[in-house]
This record gives sequence, structure tokens and C-alpha cells, in this order.
Amino acid sequence: MSHFLFIVASTREPGHVGNTEWLARRAAESLPADTTQTWLHLAHMPVQPFTDQRHTVGTYPWPDDGHLRTLLDATMGCTDLVLVSPVYWYSFPSSLKTYLDHWSAWLRIEGLPFKAEMARKRMHLVTTSGDRAKAQPMIDSAQLCAAFLSMPFDGALWGKGGPPGTVQSDATALAAADRFFRSA
Ligand SMILES: Cc1cc2nc3c(=O)[nH]c(=O)nc-3n(C[C@H](O)[C@H](O)[C@H](O)COP(=O)(O)O)c2cc1C
Repeated sequence: MSHFLFIVASTREPGHVGNTEWLARRAAESLPADTTQTWLHLAHMPVQPFTDQRHTVGTYPWPDDGHLRTLLDATMGCTDLVLVSPVYWYSFPSSLKTYLDHWSAWLRIEGLPFKAEMARKRMHLVTTSGDRAKAQPMIDSAQLCAAFLSMPFDGALWGKGGPPGTVQSDATALAAADRFFRSA
């Protein structure tokens, strides 16, 4: 059974759906009805910064109950990870970068088969920005992160963003969204 985890990295205020989430929700409409969907908004789930203790302590504890534990459990529980991320300065928003940094800790939690489990999941990327060319470094980063964990990268869906509602006018993006999860 497929379980899609949508990690939304826009920093729009609560109740304001940004272009990237709107485009991802449009794509998700094509998922089979029996697909489980979980949507998490990083902007409303603050977590502690990652600390690199790989070469001191060497291992990491399980995160206490809290947003980080929610993110870890959701990540472990999905079959498909969808990064729903606008382009910020040619890169990921900082909340998504921090989430990815914590993967480095999750690789070193005793008893957690993070690496083996991640290799069984697919990664997808939905993104918007002012300009497609400016999105390429972030798309490359996502693809490289997936490859590092041996996750198949199932492609990037890009739309033209800007003020909320902009992507709804990008007919090419809407058509691509309707096809994006067809193979899922
Ligand atoms: C902090 C910040 C940095 C941005 N950097 C870029 C950028 O490097 N390149 C670009 O084309 N657009 C950039 N943008 C524009 C956003 O990618 C665009 O408005 C996007 O659609 C916002 O997504 P959202 O509506 O889902 O929040 C930036 C916006 C913000 C707020």
C-alpha cells in the first residue's frame, strides 16, 4: 500500500497556501484513492538545529517526543517522500535543509535501519520559483540527496511561482502536475 509523505517547506503564514503546496495538491489529486497521504508543514514544526557529533559521540539518541520525532516516524513510515519546496536563494528553505541535516543523525541511531529503509522509498520533488533555470541547483541537490541514500528519484515538477495564485496560471505546470504521479 502506498503512503505518500508531503514535506511542505514554504514559509507562508498559517492558512495561506503557497504556489508549491497548491501545485503538489493538484498533482496529488491523481493519486489512487487508496493511497495514504500525510502532509507536514516544516514552518509550523520547529526543531532543534543539527549538531555534528559524528566524530565525537558517534551515535545519536532517538529524538524525544516532539516535531523531530514526528518527522522521523513519518519519514520511516512512508513509501514515497515528496519534497514540496519553493526555491529560496537557489536552494532549499532553511527548514528543509535542517530536516535533511537530521538525516545524518538518523543514520547513526542505534537500532534504526534508516539507510536500508530509505533505499526502499522513492523521492519526488515539487518546486516553484520565479524562473525555471534558477531552480536547477536545488533540483540537483534533491537528486543527489536521494542518490546518497540509494533512493530512486522519481522526478521534479516545477511551476512558475510568485505571489500566491501565480502557479494556477502556468498551464504547462498544471498539465505536468496531472501526469506527475501517474506512475505511482
Ligand atoms: C527568501 C526567498 C528566496 C527566494 N529565492 C529565489 C531564487 O533564488 N530564485 C527564484 O527564482 N525565486 C526565488 N524566490 C521566489 C520563490 O521561489 C517563489 O515566490 C515561490 O513561488 C514561493 O513558493 P510558495 O508560494 O510555495 O511559498 C525566493 C523567495 C523567497 C521568499
